[in-house]
Amino acid sequence: MATFKIVTLPGDGIGPDIVREAVKVMNRVGEIYGHTFEITEKRMGGIAIDMDGTSLPQDTIDAALASDAVLLGAVGGPKWDHLTNGDRPEKGLLGIRGALKLYANLRPAVLYKQLQHTSPLKPEIIGEGLDILVVRELTGGMYFGEKANSPAFNPEKPDCWASDLEKYSVFEIERILRTGFEAARKRQKKLCCVHKANVLESSRLWRAVFERVKNEYPDIETSEMYVDNCAMQLVRNPRQFDVIVTSNIFGDILTDEASQVAGSIGMLASASLGAGKLGLYEPIHGSAPDIAGKNLANPLATILSVPMLFRYSLGLTKEAEAIEAAVNAVLDAGWRTGDIKSKDTPANKIVGTKEMGDLVVAAIK
Ligand code: NAD
Ligand code: IPM
Ligand code: MN
Repeated sequence: MATFKIVTLPGDGIGPDIVREAVKVMNRVGEIYGHTFEITEKRMGGIAIDMDGTSLPQDTIDAALASDAVLLGAVGGPKWDHLTNGDRPEKGLLGIRGALKLYANLRPAVLYKQLQHTSPLKPEIIGEGLDILVVRELTGGMYFGEKANSPAFNPEKPDCWASDLEKYSVFEIERILRTGFEAARKRQKKLCCVHKANVLESSRLWRAVFERVKNEYPDIETSEMYVDNCAMQLVRNPRQFDVIVTSNIFGDILTDEASQVAGSIGMLASASLGAGKLGLYEPIHGSAPDIAGKNLANPLATILSVPMLFRYSLGLTKEAEAIEAAVNAVLDAGWRTGDIKSKDTPANKIVGTKEMGDLVVAAIK
């Protein structure tokens, strides 16, 4: 029995709809297990630009810092896409990751056994399933490196230029590598460091730090791979991977790819962690403007972010397992949102965002 302070940041597009379902799930766990989740909703992203004049209000940062954990939907959308080098919804997301010092982004890419058919890979390649953990560095690299522009932003002018610096320190690389090694110890004990050291100075530093740090983990089978090869290997033979550790930008791209190998981007949860217990939990997908407001979004990526929040920030293991078991039971019973249906799914088993949330709530034991 305990009380926990949770801040939710529903954001834009499908964000509010999927966070609503995850909150229902959290509250049901609270009822069954006798916990109180004090949930405070705050604004971030496009909605905050519209209502507060900034994508990341100070009040949101303060509430997040004072909380036990933050649950995020998604930010961004066509309404704010014209904004160039000023504020943008995505700037709010980067800002909160930075303000909370959440340098480690854990993105498990798991193909549920009930959803084997949703992977576009042939059965002989995807085999019995997939369970990869991508450990993405989250507060460095070109996302946070120095930004520069020629004085006038003008795509008509050939000499107009813009740049984002890909800069990493040994400290940052070593820190995320250690997160990856520690995670590998609890899994299949295999780690692949993904970089582009054949071209990039920053990646050559990654490789050199990796060569040193790996000696401290003799129990882990290590490998390294160029990112372009990794993109290909994820489709050719994804089951060769256990833990992948990589930079901010490479991890962003490779996890969208891995999500599709694992069936749907609507299924992939994530945890963004720092040195302490405070973390931010979110689906890896975006605000999906094409399906926003239509009750079509799969809420499971957000719902499955809650067990990560329970484990990493609140230490609630059996409650985390209860949510995962409930999701498994709903999938076992054949319920599907549109993104995870197959040609064999009967029409009466295809449900919307809200109904999928209700099914998970009802299945929690
Ligand atoms: P997206 O992930 O929003 O959508 C890509 C495709 O996946 C779309 O066809 C969408 O309908 C589908 N999809 C995504 N989530 C789904 C779900 N839960 N259920 C079913 N289908 C789902 O990526 P995008 O279209 O490139 O970006 C849209 C906006 O979201 C942009 O403004 C982008 O910057 C932002 N974005 C935000 C985050 C975040 O907040 N963490 C992440 C990625 C993109
Ligand atoms: C993600 C998103 C974000 C990222 C954007 C919206 C800033 O794509 O969380 O994967 O690139 O990190
Ligand atoms: Mn992304």
